[in-house]
Amino acid sequence: MNILIINGPNLNLLGKREKTIYGDASFDVYLESLRKRYPDINIVYYQSNIEGELINKIHECGFDYDGIILNAGAYTHTSIAIADAIRAVTTPVIEVHISNVHKREEYRHVSMISAACMGVILGFGTDSYRLAVEAFKK
Ligand code: DQA
Repeated sequence: MNILIINGPNLNLLGKREKTIYGDASFDVYLESLRKRYPDINIVYYQSNIEGELINKIHECGFDYDGIILNAGAYTHTSIAIADAIRAVTTPVIEVHISNVHKREEYRHVSMISAACMGVILGFGTDSYRLAVEAFKK
């Protein structure tokens, strides 16, 4: 099984960025533990701060992979282009968020991409990614 995790803008700063919201572990450390937990799953990781690069990656992998786990960061709330990319490919996409965006500022309550995704997992810290892996396993 091949799963691609895509992290969008500012998620390269996990562990350094707003630690009270996003925690103090870097994504690399978390990714290592995730890969150990699922040795039979090929978990590929991609991060970019650039909207078009996220779209290119969805196009590149979106016809071959079994699942894409996407945390589009703030583009979640603005990007019709990412929603269109998700709709354009055949690989199912699960939207994830570390924080519970519905407890936060009102502009984070809207997602442009949810309706294009298979499902949404949010508010469980970095464990949101593992829950998405579990969803794909099923
Ligand atoms: C986030 C929530 C977004 O609103 C925010 O812009 C992020 C991270 C999350 O994982 O909680 O960058 O996607």
